[in-house]
Amino acid sequence: MRNWNRRKPMALDTLSSAHRLRPTLSWWHLIALGVGAIVGTGIYTLVGIGAGLAGPAVILSFAIAGAVCACAALCYAEVATMIPASGSAYTYSYTVIGELVAWIVGWSLILEYSLVVSAVAVGWSGYTAGFLTSLGIPLPAAISAGPHAGGLLNVPAVLIVFAVAGLLALGTRESAVVNAILVVVKIVALVLFIAVALPHYDAGQFHPFMPYGFAAHDVNGVQHGVMAAAAIIFFAFYGFDAISTAAEETKNPGRDLPIGIVGSMLICTALYVGVAAVAVGSMPYTTYANSAEPLALILRSLGQGKVAAIIGAAAIIALPTVILAFLFGQSRIFFVMARDGLLPAKLARVNARTGTPIRMTMVTALVVSVLAGLVPLDAIAALANAGTLAAFIAVAACMLIMRRREPDRARIFATPLPWVVGPLAIIGCLYLFWSLPGTTKLFFLIWNVVGLVIYQWIGRRTDAAPAA
Ligand code: ALA
Repeated sequence: MRNWNRRKPMALDTLSSAHRLRPTLSWWHLIALGVGAIVGTGIYTLVGIGAGLAGPAVILSFAIAGAVCACAALCYAEVATMIPASGSAYTYSYTVIGELVAWIVGWSLILEYSLVVSAVAVGWSGYTAGFLTSLGIPLPAAISAGPHAGGLLNVPAVLIVFAVAGLLALGTRESAVVNAILVVVKIVALVLFIAVALPHYDAGQFHPFMPYGFAAHDVNGVQHGVMAAAAIIFFAFYGFDAISTAAEETKNPGRDLPIGIVGSMLICTALYVGVAAVAVGSMPYTTYANSAEPLALILRSLGQGKVAAIIGAAAIIALPTVILAFLFGQSRIFFVMARDGLLPAKLARVNARTGTPIRMTMVTALVVSVLAGLVPLDAIAALANAGTLAAFIAVAACMLIMRRREPDRARIFATPLPWVVGPLAIIGCLYLFWSLPGTTKLFFLIWNVVGLVIYQWIGRRTDAAPAA
């Protein structure tokens, strides 16, 4: 039987070169990786859905989700620099709390990373199909949607996952450079939206401010209110945690990780508040509440069709950076779990030429592309949020436990006001989790029960201790 209480040692020195990732990244790669992972489907589509759930007070939903993420990001920065090993929240929980909690966190991270990759791939496919149609090249329905939407297989979604996986297999540094260029495209598109829509800003659009109240509550079978919107909009903010999965591949993790994590969060929060305020101020929120492309719709309604097309094209070009960052994170988490003996050990091999876990990357891409090609993911995107919230709670708890257990240990990055920021992160994440739809919470529970059964099964077969 496995020892569920066992903790993983902190040092990486005992790893053989076949099990070590190659450090090639610096702070600006990490900021780009963070912004690449954060800015995506969330800001491009969820502004509309959030406004439909909260009204103009969606601004408040953005502020709440952003504040919770900022607290979590500070905890991540401290823990990531104390334990600069790959695997993110899974590795921190294994090192600080114990194997069973680490398994639950790793299992939750699989939910987060896989569902984000699949959902963004499906979203990208939708934008691409729309764009090709506007060029007079419509894709047949059978190959542009899964069975749930009357098709056979969502081929573009599968292709984009494999294209990004191929790039990742080439090498981490090459992927990071391409990612940095695409991040610039994404940011320029959002700044362009703010610049073009801002002259139409009318403070009158903010009244009534909170038509559905604050706490999440049922309206015609759907959770409404500022918190219900915040629980969904939370999707738009995370991604900075993917940076911590690159810790082993960072040249100077002590300096670069906090700059990457906190820097990317600050850039994105500023952008989001700008986009959300300008969107709500420029048109009645009901006009774009149900749109799959609210930013483009707002611009078209303001008579800016060309700029709307540019924003749509930028989404097609740049959304794959989210896929890249999460696929990267997912393959690294699987990799470390395999290295620890919790998944088949053969998957933990690093390719001698590229220094990356090619086999693990391809297995991950296969699983994720099956989901993207066949499964209706839009309705369960909230499930990705549930997994992420569990991981954030674990990281904040790790930060507090380490403060208590080893108060004098040197901290390269110290969370300011740790006994305020840590509990705020935990309480905020619990409140967001509570505000998620009931079916999401139920699915999350089922997912973890399945995970625990698998853990028991693994325990009977192996009791290998973690490599480091
Ligand atoms: N934050 C990422 C997005 O919005 C997951 O797509």
